[in-house]
Amino acid sequence: MKKSTTSRSHSDSRSSSRKQATRPSRSRSRQPLNGEWLKEFLSEMLAVEQGGVELYDRALEELEHDDLRSKLEQYHEQTQRHVELCQEMLNAAGGNEDEMSPAAEAAEHKAQGLLSADVPPELKDINNLENLVLAETKDHWNWELLGSLVEEIEERDLKKIVSRAVREVRKQENDHLTWNQKMLTRLATEAAHREPEMEEGEEGEEEQEESGSERDY
Ligand SMILES: [Fe+2]
Ligand SMILES: [Fe+2]
Repeated sequence: MKKSTTSRSHSDSRSSSRKQATRPSRSRSRQPLNGEWLKEFLSEMLAVEQGGVELYDRALEELEHDDLRSKLEQYHEQTQRHVELCQEMLNAAGGNEDEMSPAAEAAEHKAQGLLSADVPPELKDINNLENLVLAETKDHWNWELLGSLVEEIEERDLKKIVSRAVREVRKQENDHLTWNQKMLTRLATEAAHREPEMEEGEEGEEEQEESGSERDY
């Protein structure tokens, strides 16, 4: 008991001195943008866009609401273009498409997780839109973050490539997210007001019950 108290107080004093040594400065100056971080982030962005292509593929394959098709096709195509842009940015940053960063692996895993959820046929469209809202939320956030950091990129060519890509994509990501959210709300609202489906024979039974109860009065 005594030993543990001693060792705790010893480690407390050690950790408090370590805390003091590593406590971040309160000044506004920050370290310059970390090139390794950027490379890893671009690898993650690429994986998110690739997952997005698969999610649009799935949504189109299973689509029941045909009035959603043209927008889904348009966003599918734009997402394929985003894959190319991410590849271009990653290569310019000195990264390699075949080596995924840990966050890229996680992003791929999450997309596969979304794709693996199985639902009954009547829920396919709503499930696919929900998956797209989740994926597009991250996709939109990625591009916003990249846009907020682009001025800090020191390497001139890379900065030019990233700036151009952000200019091309930012508005599209906004549209992707808001449209998918809006359509998900539309389908969910329709489902919320759909007449309950009756089992075979249930309708007849209900009519009999109603006429029976009329007789009782
Ligand atoms: Fe995208
Ligand atoms: Fe997107």
